Parts: sequence; C-alpha cells; structure tokens
Amino acid sequence: MIKFEDVGKRYPNGFEGLKHINLSIEQGEFVAIIGLSGAGKSTLIRTINRMHDVTSGKLTVDDVDVMSLYGKQLRRFRRKIGMIFQSFNLITRTTVIKNVMTAFVPDMPWYRSTFGIYNKEEKIKALECLDKVGILDKAFVRADQLSGGQQQRVALARTLAQDPQIILADEPVAALDPVTAKQVMDDFKRINEDMKITVLINIHHVDLALKYASRVIGIREGEIVYDGPASDVNEEVLTKIYKGKVDNEGNVQEEEG
Ligand SMILES: Nc1ncnc2c1ncn2[C@@H]1O[C@H](COP(=O)(O)OP(=O)(O)OP(=O)(O)O)[C@@H](O)[C@H]1O
Ligand SMILES: [Mg+2]
Repeated sequence: MIKFEDVGKRYPNGFEGLKHINLSIEQGEFVAIIGLSGAGKSTLIRTINRMHDVTSGKLTVDDVDVMSLYGKQLRRFRRKIGMIFQSFNLITRTTVIKNVMTAFVPDMPWYRSTFGIYNKEEKIKALECLDKVGILDKAFVRADQLSGGQQQRVALARTLAQDPQIILADEPVAALDPVTAKQVMDDFKRINEDMKITVLINIHHVDLALKYASRVIGIREGEIVYDGPASDVNEEVLTKIYKGKVDNEGNVQEEEG
C-alpha cells in the first residue's frame, strides 16, 4: 500500500509543488491522475520512488517510510517500482531484447554487466516479458526501427523484467496517436489485472483516464480536488479539476473572469 499522510513538497526555490496530500492506494489499483499542466501530477508520482523528496508529512510504501531510505536500501526499494516516461527512454542503437535485459544489470556481477553477458534465464525472462506486451516477434530488431507504440511496449517489458510491485507512468501515451494510445493502455490494464501490479498513470486524455482507470485523482495547484471512482467523474468534477468546462474529448474552456 502507498500512503501519503499530509505530504507536502516544497521545491528549493520555495515553490510548493504539493500541499497536504492524503492518499491511500491499495495493491492492485489502477489509478489515473489528471489535472492541468503544472498542477503537480509528475511531482506526485515522482515522490513515490524518491525521484523527488517530500519535504513535510509522511509517505510510506508497505509501511516503509520512503524518506528513511538511503544507499543500498533505496536502490532495492526502487527495484520494486517501475517507471515509464512519455519519451520511452530506450537505448535506440541496440536490440529490443538487450533493452529489456538492462533491467537485470543492477543485480549482475560487474564483469557480466561490463561486457553485457546475459545468461539463459535472463534471456528467457526478457522474451517472456516481450510476449506479455505482444511484441515477442520484435526481440531482435533494433529499438530505433520500431514505432512509438512498439517502443513504449519495450519500455513496459523492461519494467516488467524487474518484477515491479508498482508501475508509475508519466504521460505514457502522450506521444502516441489515439489508436496506438488505446493499445498501450490495454497493455497497462492487462498487466494490472493479470499480475496485480499497482498502476499509477498521469494522463492528459480524460476519456482514456475514465475508460481505463477504476480510480481517478484530480490535482489542482498541488492539491487533490477529486479522489474517487472514474464512474463518478462528471462535468462538475472536471470543472473543479480544470478550472473550467471540459467537453467529452477533454478540451477545456477556461472559466471566465
Ligand atoms: N525543480 C523544480 N523547481 C521549482 N518548481 C518546480 C520544479 N519542478 C516542477 N516545479 C513546479 O511544480 C509545479 C508542478 O509541476 P509538475 O511537473 O508536477 O506538473 P504536472 O502536473 O506534471 O504538469 P504537466 O502536465 O505539464 O506535466 C509546476 O508549477 C512546476 O513549475
Ligand atoms: Mg508532468
């Protein structure tokens, strides 16, 4: 369980990115985080794996105080948490399978990681992860020869290879066309349901958030202004989150005055 108790995040310049965040997320939930650009979505998910430090309150993952972790413990903790970015972050010059196997590097002896020597178990596991996201046939293709959707699936497979308990995804489909975006969201959903991995996704597409997530968190200026089932998100809720009217496609008309 991920638990925020009155969490605040003040950036070094004094700006308060998060204010009084209270949240409990159970293992296996699929949560979409929505809000205007600059609302604090990335800040929120990045505190969970300590890419950002919280500056007040308490944040725990499975009862472990995230701010108490350092060095080896922090590295081990981060292995349980996969991170997916809008820009895929692959090594484009190398094959898909080698990209997935980079997930094993932190656990490998130095000589194997230095020379990129992977054993049979690691290769099989990487192939299994590619199979889970439907791109087993691309295993030996160079990553830069894949489409954006396929590259995001490689990133997802690489994350799965580290056996995560939680996947944090920061705008994972923002760079994809609507059809491909749905396919990648289907992958997240399948992984969430089949493997009981908690999924937290920051997303600008309100329609996708409501379609895929069971729970929606709406952030406005660093504060949670909605936290509830996707099915209860109506125009009023969206107006509160986005400071204005939002149509079904998620287009916002700014409040007047
Ligand atoms: N390192 C930093 N120092 C100071 N302020 C920051 C820093 N990083 C982010 N912020 C501010 O914190 C606020 C929240 O940023 P964040 O990146 O979390 O927003 P977001 O909701 O993810 O936006 P987007 O949808 O554009 O990705 C913004 O006002 C941003 O300018
Ligand atoms: Mg962001």
